[in-house]
Amino acid sequence: MDDSARQIEKLRDELRRHEHLYYVLDRPEISDAEYDALMRRLQELEAAHPELLTPDSPTQRVGGKPREGFVKVAHSSSMLSLDNALNEGELREFDRRVRDLLNGARYRYVTELKMDGLSMAAHYRDGRLLQAVTRGDGAVGEDVTENARTIRSLPLRVKTKLAAFEVRGETVMNRRAFERLNAEREERGLSRFANPRNAAAGSLRVLEPQITASRRLDYYTYFLLVEGRPALASHWATLDELARLGFKVNQRRKLCGGIDEVVAFCAEWEAKRDELPYEIDGVVVKVDSIEQQQRLGFTAKAPRWAIAYKYPARQAITTVESIEVQVGRTGALTPVAHLKPVDVGGVTVSRATLHNEDEIERLGLEIGDAVVIERSGDVIPKVVRVHELGSYRKKFRMPAQCPVCGGKVVREEGEAASRCINTNCSARLKESILHFAARGVMNIDGMGEALVDQLVDRGMVESVADIYDLTIEKLMTLERMGSKSATNVLVNIGNSKKNPLPRVLNALGIRFVGERTAVFLAEAFGSLEAIAKAGLEELQQAEEVGPKVAESIFQFFREPRNQELIGRLREAGLQFNYPVVKRKAGPLKGLTFVLTGTLPHLSREEARKLIEAAGGKVSGSVSKKTNYVVAGEEAGSKLTKAQELGIKVVNEVEFLDLIKVG
Ligand code: IVH
Repeated sequence: MDDSARQIEKLRDELRRHEHLYYVLDRPEISDAEYDALMRRLQELEAAHPELLTPDSPTQRVGGKPREGFVKVAHSSSMLSLDNALNEGELREFDRRVRDLLNGARYRYVTELKMDGLSMAAHYRDGRLLQAVTRGDGAVGEDVTENARTIRSLPLRVKTKLAAFEVRGETVMNRRAFERLNAEREERGLSRFANPRNAAAGSLRVLEPQITASRRLDYYTYFLLVEGRPALASHWATLDELARLGFKVNQRRKLCGGIDEVVAFCAEWEAKRDELPYEIDGVVVKVDSIEQQQRLGFTAKAPRWAIAYKYPARQAITTVESIEVQVGRTGALTPVAHLKPVDVGGVTVSRATLHNEDEIERLGLEIGDAVVIERSGDVIPKVVRVHELGSYRKKFRMPAQCPVCGGKVVREEGEAASRCINTNCSARLKESILHFAARGVMNIDGMGEALVDQLVDRGMVESVADIYDLTIEKLMTLERMGSKSATNVLVNIGNSKKNPLPRVLNALGIRFVGERTAVFLAEAFGSLEAIAKAGLEELQQAEEVGPKVAESIFQFFREPRNQELIGRLREAGLQFNYPVVKRKAGPLKGLTFVLTGTLPHLSREEARKLIEAAGGKVSGSVSKKTNYVVAGEEAGSKLTKAQELGIKVVNEVEFLDLIKVG
C-alpha cells in the first residue's frame, strides 16, 4: 500500500470510530469541529485519489442519486408483527401460555422498549452494508439502501468473521428532530407530520437520499440473523453482540427472571416515558432462549414467544366548544380548538391546534362535535378525529377579516394558510417581536409575551427596531417592571447586538428563511447588504435556496418598510457582516469549555458570551471532549471530574488571557 492509501484507511478508521462514539454510544470524544476537520482531510485525499474511493467510506453516506421508485425485495424470513397485551392481565395470560407450552422448563424474558418507528432489515456481506429493506407487508419490502446509508447510527462497515448476516431493527426519529422538521415544514407552508413514526416512514421513503440525510433518523437493532435464522442461542446475548459489532442497541432493556419483573419493567417505563428522547408505545417481551422460541413457534401472524405490551394511547374524548383564530408573525391565521377541559394521561388539556382550514375539512369537524384528542410526548395536543357529531353543530369559517386588526384576509392559490395582509397588524407585530427575541434567535431574555403585549398595546413599539430605542424610564412606566427587571431587559437587548448575521437573518422573519437557510445565506454572501442586493438567480447560489425561497427573500428586501427596518437595525449596531476569515480566526474555534464555580468578575452568562464570541463552545458537563474547565470559587464536582480526566483547568485571569492571545 502506498502512503496515501494508508493515510486514507487510517482516516476512515478514525472517522468510523468517532461516528460510533457519537451516533451509537452518545459519548463523543472530540468536538464537532475536529470531526469536520478529519472528514475534510479525508474528502481532500479521496478527491486527489479517486481510484481509492470505496462505497463504505464515511464520506459516501450521501452519495446516492435520486431514484425513480423503490425495488421490491423479498425478506429472508417473514418480518412478522406481534400480538398485543393491553393490560397486566393479558400479559400474565401470555406468560401462562408460555409456561404451559414449555412444560415446566425454566425460562427467562428479555424486555425492550417498543420504539414507535418502522422496522427495517439491513444486509451485510463481507462486513459491508449491502442492502436495506423496509418491512413492507412482512414478506416483501422495498429497497431503501441509498436512504438508509445516510443514517449515521447504521454502520457502513462492520468488523466480523461472518461472511453474510442481517440485522433487523427500528428506524425512528427522536422528538427533537421531529419538532424541528415540523417547524421547518410549517415555515415552508407544508403540512406537518402527525407523529414521529409517520415522519420516520416519510423520510425513509423519499426518492432523494439528501432529504433522508437532513432528517436525522436513528436505527436501533434487535435481531441478528444468518440465513434468515437467529445467529446466537439467546436473545440477550444477541443484543450484546449487536452492540459489540457497533450497532445501536437500546440500553434500556432487562433480562427478567419471571413475569413479575416484566410487569415491573412495563410500569417503570410507562411512568417515565415522557423523559425519553423518543416516542415509545409499549414494551416488547421476548422469551430469551432461541431454542425455547423455536419450541413455542408461531401462529399464522405472530410468534408465540413474544408479545407487545401496549401502553394506552394518551387520548381522550371531549367537546369542541369554540374555535379561536390566532394570528402569527407572517400573518398566518391558525384555528385553535377550545375544548371542554379533559385529563389526558395526567395533564389537563383545554386547547388543541387545528393548523388550518384544510385540516378542519379533512377531520369533518364542526363546533359542538365530540372529538378524540391525543397528547404525545411534549408535542402540542392535537385533534385525531371526530368521535360523535354534536347535536348543535356550527361550521367554522375562516374570517374574511383579521380578528385582531380587521385587515383583509387572503388565502393564496396553493397555500394551506390564510393570512392577514396588513403589515401593521398588532398581532403580527407582537409575534414578530417574540420571534425576534426568542431563544436561539436574538436571545433577548425577559422579552416575553407579557412585556411585548404592553409595549405594543401602549404604542411604545411600532416596529421591531423600536426595541433598540427603549430606555429605562420608558420601561419603568410599565406594569410589573421594577428597575432591576428593566435593567436586565435593557442589558439583554444590548447584548443581542452581538449576535452573528445568521441570527439576525433568522430574526427578520423572512418567509422560508429559518435557522438553517440563514446560515447558508450568510456563508454564501458574507453580508446583509450583499443578500439584500442579490438578484433571484444569485440568491439561488446559496445552499438549499430554490426559486420559491429566493423569490421570498428578493421581495422582502424590495419592500420599503423592510428597507427602513434594516436601516434602523444597522444604526442600532446589529451585526450585518459575516466575515468567514474572522470566524475561522476566532481564538477559541473548535474548543469546548465548561464553566464551574463563581468567577471573581465575570458572571456565567458573560463568560459564556465571551467564549462564544471567540468561536468556542460551552458545555454543561465535563467529558473527554472538554478542552478547558474555567473554575471559580466553590467549584464542585465538575472540577473533580476535570482533574480525574486530566483536563486543563484555568482561572479567570488565565481564561481572559486565552481569549486575548488568539
Ligand atoms: S420484535 C417477530 N422488538 O413493533 C418480532 N419489535 O408490533 C417482531 N418494534 O413490527 C418485532 N421495538 O416495528 C421488536 N424491540 C423491539 C421493537 C419492535 C419496536 C416494532 C416493530 C414491530 C412492531 C411489532
